Amino acid sequence: MVLPIYVYGQPVLRKVAEDIDPAYPNLKELIENMFETMDKADGVGLAAPQIGLPIRVVVVNLDVLSEDFPEYKGFRKAYINAHILEVGGEEVPMEEGCLSLPGIHETVKRGSKIRVKYLDEELNPHEEVVEGYLARVMQHEFDHLEGKMFIDHLSPLRKQMIKGKLSALLKGKAHCTYKVKTVHHK
Ligand code: NI
Repeated sequence: MVLPIYVYGQPVLRKVAEDIDPAYPNLKELIENMFETMDKADGVGLAAPQIGLPIRVVVVNLDVLSEDFPEYKGFRKAYINAHILEVGGEEVPMEEGCLSLPGIHETVKRGSKIRVKYLDEELNPHEEVVEGYLARVMQHEFDHLEGKMFIDHLSPLRKQMIKGKLSALLKGKAHCTYKVKTVHHK
């Protein structure tokens, strides 16, 4: 089932999300719905707060990038109770967008290497070091679990430049092809 995506201004996007119990009801179905919602919106990642749930669940699809990054062929993964333990490497700038910030694309600097822990879809625990494009996507998505969005990383000047777009979103003016929930229609 495709779910509406919560847009900037929705309070759930600013909450610190909580770990879930492995017995969380209908977790498989929730993850399936998140994949479907992300695919429909052509996203590479989606965090549960973006569908209105303050829990630490993230889905990532890097298969769509496999033409440029062959190593990501077939890469579709869910991350449960996901946490970043450490960010390191070089600071790398790259343009980012977010399904909860339709129409906004800005360059964000992030570390090139991270150490993360999470449970996979079968609830097996993992702790690993991640680099490259996946490290970028994970930092963006796992930020959502801390109540952060990529615009929080911008300089005051860049923030000023997108002020008009942000206030349009707060007024419910989100122009995108997927279903959204702005603060103005509940
Ligand atoms: Ni995002």
